[in-house]
Amino acid sequence: MKFFIDTANIEEIKTAHDWGIVDGVTTNPSLIAKEGRDFKQVVLEICDIVDGPVSAEVISLEAEEMIVEAKKLAAWHKNVVIKIPCTPDGLKAVKQLAGLGIKTNVTLVFSANQVLLAAKAGATYISLFVGRLDDAGEDGLQVIGDSVAIIENHNFASQILVASIRSPLTVQKAAVLGAHVATIPFKILQQMFQHPLTDIGIKTFLDDWAKLNA
Ligand code: E4P
Repeated sequence: MKFFIDTANIEEIKTAHDWGIVDGVTTNPSLIAKEGRDFKQVVLEICDIVDGPVSAEVISLEAEEMIVEAKKLAAWHKNVVIKIPCTPDGLKAVKQLAGLGIKTNVTLVFSANQVLLAAKAGATYISLFVGRLDDAGEDGLQVIGDSVAIIENHNFASQILVASIRSPLTVQKAAVLGAHVATIPFKILQQMFQHPLTDIGIKTFLDDWAKLNA
């Protein structure tokens, strides 16, 4: 399973990258706005840190405009992946961009049928928003399981990307279900390291070592 980090914060990206577990980065307009910095500058700084897919989202809603925007973003750096919402215009753009060899990440996906459509259009990644589904009283992980089965059963090239992650347990369960990628907020990555028995074990070893050397 690949791990992307779901942030536009450079310090968080550098720290997680130094842990050796980051394969890529996802941003969205909200995450970029939170940093209050120039979009292109942030994306290029991220590309300097992580040599892997870096998602940058288009703002246009009409296919031809999305394609113009996507070509501009893709020209910024070879690792930029174009994030496009799952609409008829979005998938029309994805199909044409796939023909041009431009990688896409179809976003704001909430159902297995949307996954099927995005896969048929030729999406590189399909971002399923598990947390927002759970918030709405649906079972986000159920949709992940169904979507992984669809991709595998029909040999689609698209990868299921688990997004909108709110807890370490979601990452674990999505990995068991065979999801290809998880994009994980920095705070959740930190929580994934934590186990009280690890802390107790380290303390015991160090105390015993100190006794021996006392
Ligand atoms: C990432 O690609 C998504 O935009 C992100 O995971 C959405 O997360 P949120 O639902 O917490 O905003």
